[in-house]
Amino acid sequence: MDGDGAGDALALDHLSKRFGDRVALEDISLGVPRGEVFGILGPNGAGKTTLVRTLGTLLSPSAGSAQVAGLPLNRENAVEIRRRIAIMPESPGLYLRLSVAENLECFADLYQTPHSKERVAAALEAVHLLERADDACGSLSKGLRQRVALARVLLSDPEVLFLDEPTAGLDPGAARGVQELVDDLRQRGVTIILTTHRLDEAERLCDRVAILNTSVRKIGRPEQLRDQLFAKSLTVRTLDPLTAPASVYAGLPSVEHWCEEAPATYILTVTDPAVAAPAVTRALVAAGADVLSINESHHSLEDVYLELVHRDQEVGQT
Ligand SMILES: Nc1ncnc2c1ncn2[C@@H]1O[C@H](COP(=O)(O)OP(=O)(O)O)[C@@H](O)[C@H]1O
Ligand SMILES: [Mg+2]
Repeated sequence: MDGDGAGDALALDHLSKRFGDRVALEDISLGVPRGEVFGILGPNGAGKTTLVRTLGTLLSPSAGSAQVAGLPLNRENAVEIRRRIAIMPESPGLYLRLSVAENLECFADLYQTPHSKERVAAALEAVHLLERADDACGSLSKGLRQRVALARVLLSDPEVLFLDEPTAGLDPGAARGVQELVDDLRQRGVTIILTTHRLDEAERLCDRVAILNTSVRKIGRPEQLRDQLFAKSLTVRTLDPLTAPASVYAGLPSVEHWCEEAPATYILTVTDPAVAAPAVTRALVAAGADVLSINESHHSLEDVYLELVHRDQEVGQT
């Protein structure tokens, strides 16, 4: 980190990117403070890689402007921006015949990394690959290769790290391993921009997410997005069906609506679960019901995402 501290790691102002007639990114404005893990979530073709490549100075924007690691994104600053950031692309190029350590040494040379021996060792340690340093990359599993790729982007000690679908194609165990490494990096204060179409991953790792589908559809903390899109609700389960549910639920504070989802299972739409749940509990006990559970319903980020992407498809069809 260069210690200037001030300002955001990223600031995008009406950024757009077209390839000929095809609009890949449309009018994107957002800011990412330093130290944040920021997720860019979107289906295939949403523009995630285009956004990473544009901010990484590999593509030039068609309109709008941006600041990356404190510098205006333009041709003059491209070299210095690249010095401050690192990109882990979708398919990281590694020399499969060379060992893990040799791969990293090659890239350290290429990047003219100072103290390259120490840096390679530190990067290997950061991704827990010291014991595999002498193994040929070609002999490693996909998950371990992905770790080598992560070590590679750590060689330059970037301020801002772009990870483009780092767990795509990995089995759940290997994906979890990469996610834990991302968590370690967060502890060190690196700003991380992570693209993914895995919602569990975004939910687990990211402080905030932008749902991208050419334009930014929503932006916020995962739980904020859930709250914005879905009504809050309680699920009530009783041992036996209530004889008169309407008289139990009607008129309770904060309960707006109720329905019987299944025998002895009721969904209550509420304005504030903290007000509704105690009142519902008292009313059920007063009615002589045996309560099995009262739970606040949890909408996952996946629900939010499918809702938005589904709306896009519906709009596209009209
Ligand atoms: N170099 C390119 N030339 C033309 N079209 C491109 C190019 N790169 C990406 N696109 C198009 O831009 C859109 C976004 O692609 P991409 O950024 O790769 O999406 P994602 O990474 O979210 O899957 C797609 O419609 C893709 O076909
Ligand atoms: Mg992509």
